[in-house]
Amino acid sequence: MASTKKASKTKATLSQNFFLTWVKRLGVLSILVAVFAWLDTIKERWYVFDPPFLHELAQSAIAASPNDTAGMINHIVTNLTQTYPSTQIRLNPNQKEWVFNNAGGAMGAMYIIHASITEYLIIFGTPLGTEGHSGIHTADDYFHILVGEQWAFRPGALEMERYTPGMMHLMPRGVAKQYKMHEGCWAMEYARGWIPLMLPFGFADAITSTLDVPTLYNTVRITGREIIKNLLIGKI
Ligand SMILES: *[C@@H]1O[C@H](CO)[C@@H](O)[C@H](O)[C@H]1NC(C)=O
Ligand SMILES: *[C@@H]1O[C@H](CO)[C@@H](O)[C@H](O)[C@H]1NC(C)=O
Repeated sequence: MASTKKASKTKATLSQNFFLTWVKRLGVLSILVAVFAWLDTIKERWYVFDPPFLHELAQSAIAASPNDTAGMINHIVTNLTQTYPSTQIRLNPNQKEWVFNNAGGAMGAMYIIHASITEYLIIFGTPLGTEGHSGIHTADDYFHILVGEQWAFRPGALEMERYTPGMMHLMPRGVAKQYKMHEGCWAMEYARGWIPLMLPFGFADAITSTLDVPTLYNTVRITGREIIKNLLIGKI
């Protein structure tokens, strides 16, 4: 008699503990969701780059170095390092630091000029041409064509969108497209939003398909180094 009473008492305590554990978990989860929702409304305060300025810069790079992709890239990096003080934003001046980038089935090479928690600016392209899925991103993506053409479409469209040098292709957060960099194409890509959440898409092809470990290593090393160097000067 006494032992059954004890057993049911233990059972009651157990289910009470179980209930409390879940209340705590849900509490923590709601706090996290609230914090992220709040951060999302104030992320603009950490942006340094200005889209209209970058569009002008891409166009002036094309005008200053016609038929010379390296000249355009140099124009962009030189202008940015003169425009923004190194106390405000960290830029990677090493124009020889290129890595392959495989994502969404497309392949090219990229040079990371800037990477932080809320922004990145890269040169991306290939002299061969490539095609793939854009990915669905947590950032707005401003794709400035420097050389060649980029084509794109969304389901429902029966004609392609066509972007030529000097044009900017804006992919708002959450939008997905099929795109093709027809033959050779180089672009200056600027993304603003939550950059770390974009990284899984950038690494998925390497992990599941190319198994190009040196590229994966270098991409993580360079991206991590740039994000940390920016954090150290207070650039989120
Ligand atoms: C950088 O480029 C912008 C846009 O073309 C231009 O207005 C500005 O004068 C340039 N700044 C420097 C320091 O070259
Ligand atoms: C650029 O290259 C194209 C094709 O090769 C040529 O027709 C054009 O004259 C070149 N422009 C300049 C400014 O060198």
